[in-house]
Amino acid sequence: MTATQSNADVAETRNPPGAGPAEAEGALKAIYQRRAVRAYTDEPVPREEIEQLLEAAIHAPSAVNLQPWGFVVIQDRETLTRYAEEGKMLLLGDPPTEEVVESGFSGNDWLRQMAASADFAIFHGAPALVVIYATSSGGTQDCFLAAENLMLAAWTLGLGTCPVGLALPLFNRKEVKADLNVPSDWVAALPITVGWPAGETPPTTRRPAQIVAWR
Ligand SMILES: Cc1cc2nc3c(=O)[nH]c(=O)nc-3n(C[C@H](O)[C@H](O)[C@H](O)COP(=O)(O)O)c2cc1C
Repeated sequence: MTATQSNADVAETRNPPGAGPAEAEGALKAIYQRRAVRAYTDEPVPREEIEQLLEAAIHAPSAVNLQPWGFVVIQDRETLTRYAEEGKMLLLGDPPTEEVVESGFSGNDWLRQMAASADFAIFHGAPALVVIYATSSGGTQDCFLAAENLMLAAWTLGLGTCPVGLALPLFNRKEVKADLNVPSDWVAALPITVGWPAGETPPTTRRPAQIVAWR
């Protein structure tokens, strides 16, 4: 991409010529250097940057190009703090709520212990959160592709991200959806924290690809 081309211009290009060496290197760097970032500075993320992330997200592939995603962006500190507390209390609730059971988090002692810790911060203190909702049944896997696009685009801007599956029960609550103008039949696919990383995040390890057939 040249300095004068916007992301939208790039996406509109017909018969894209394919990646040259510089593009290929940049794309691979984003894939290999993205990290789940769990420490952020307090600096807010400008609206323009968030818009760029959403633009990247919606360029993900989707089955029959259904684009079954909807987004909630939360940057208001008070709202983030309130939801962080609510998300934590949901994980600790006994008996577990329907949303916690549906997320598969009930009866997990390790998880309860982690959530009970005084320094547990479900959104890692990030100044922004994007929640991707599936707008149709079966749309969740398309939303995951959108999520990866968003996280890779964030890396190109120097922003850190972390998927937060632990907040799924929260964003699937009837009351929370109503509070956020989310239609009741949408399903939270993945909340993602966004912010400027505080320090470096070391890479995590990967097992080699398990190739069980190559015929
Ligand atoms: C669907 C999904 C849910 C996740 N949920 C959480 C979460 O609730 N909290 C968290 O800190 N990290 C969460 N992660 C981040 C993973 O722990 C992280 O991606 C993994 O450890 C690999 O590290 P890396 O992303 O830095 O390569 C989640 C990742 C995925 C894909």
